[in-house]
Amino acid sequence: MARVREISQVAITGTGMAVPPRIVTNDELSKIMDTSDEWIRQRTGIEERRYVAPGVSASDLALEASQKALATAGLNATDIDFVLVATLSPEQYFPGTCSFLQAKLGLSTTSGLDIRAQCSGFVYGLEMGQALIASGQYKRILLVGVEVQSPALDLTDRGRDTAALFGDGAGAVILEAAKNPKHGIQRVITHIEGKHADKLGVQYPSAIGGVWIKPEHIADGGVSPKMDGRFVFKHAVTRMPEVINEVLLDQGLSVPDIDLWLFHQANLRINEHIAQGMGIPVEKTYNNIQKYGNTSAATLPMLLDECRRDGRLKDGDRIMMTAFGAGFTWGSALVTWGK
Ligand code: ACO
Repeated sequence: MARVREISQVAITGTGMAVPPRIVTNDELSKIMDTSDEWIRQRTGIEERRYVAPGVSASDLALEASQKALATAGLNATDIDFVLVATLSPEQYFPGTCSFLQAKLGLSTTSGLDIRAQCSGFVYGLEMGQALIASGQYKRILLVGVEVQSPALDLTDRGRDTAALFGDGAGAVILEAAKNPKHGIQRVITHIEGKHADKLGVQYPSAIGGVWIKPEHIADGGVSPKMDGRFVFKHAVTRMPEVINEVLLDQGLSVPDIDLWLFHQANLRINEHIAQGMGIPVEKTYNNIQKYGNTSAATLPMLLDECRRDGRLKDGDRIMMTAFGAGFTWGSALVTWGK
């Protein structure tokens, strides 16, 4: 029988997050590489980040965040009919992290997939989740952003520009048809500019040239993230306001109509620059980069969960979530809070 498209709005009905207990301060990093608390704070706003203990994997963190999101939505894992996992630090090269999480959730044959859109992965997940539910294909989607980045960092002087930035964490949301037609995801817009893919990424393992991985790639740091920081910074502060304005224009809204602004947490200076340039009041923004560093695809659902638990989210509030990351990928999602 053909599916009937009858869902107009898709709401976020649960949120959860998980971070490993181990706190790594800037001072701790400055003992193992040529950096300082002062440099990291001034340039990025980061004070500390979390690293997993050996043996803890992306699907472990994702499981904890998912269980909390399910609990706040009043659901069991078996109520979910599709699982989306956004990550740039997958558990293995393949299979996807979704398979490991799906098994740990105790699911038998429930479908799902990984989203590879780096720091923008959660915004892409909202876009896909909304479409899959609105089409009538699925009813309840678990969307997780998760990163275990610490094992891949080059914790030496050579890698200090990226090692100082990244941390581990997971955030999860539940997506379902909204009960109130005014609530839910209003609009998501995403973009890619693939010509800048070489400005931020991990080169090896790579099938290019039939190489895969050699001992020298480990020795020369080719297995750790490489970034042209200034280039990425300039593009982030241009593209993020651009896509926010696209969403606002599409919805007939302007900056004062938004109640809460959640930006990707790559650098506090990026977010301050955007807020200042767009006339966004500081009290309508929330940042957690100070505590967690850049947790890539996990960042936005972690911010959302902290805001929900802090009582910052009221039914009817308009939340603008915006991300920018490797690829380059970027996007913005406007959500009206409430079920
Ligand atoms: N400690 C001390 N010094 C450092 C460190 C460090 N951890 N890292 C770099 N430096 C040095 C550099 O070597 C350089 O030294 P030099 O002047 O002698 O050459 C100096 O500090 C300045 O380096 P810059 O790279 O110019 O510093 P900048 O002010 O641009 O800050 C940063 C660097 C924080 C990386 C910034 O460029 C940035 O945030 N870029 C954007 C990051 C981003 O948005 N990423 C996208 C999302 S992540 C994702 O998608 C995976």
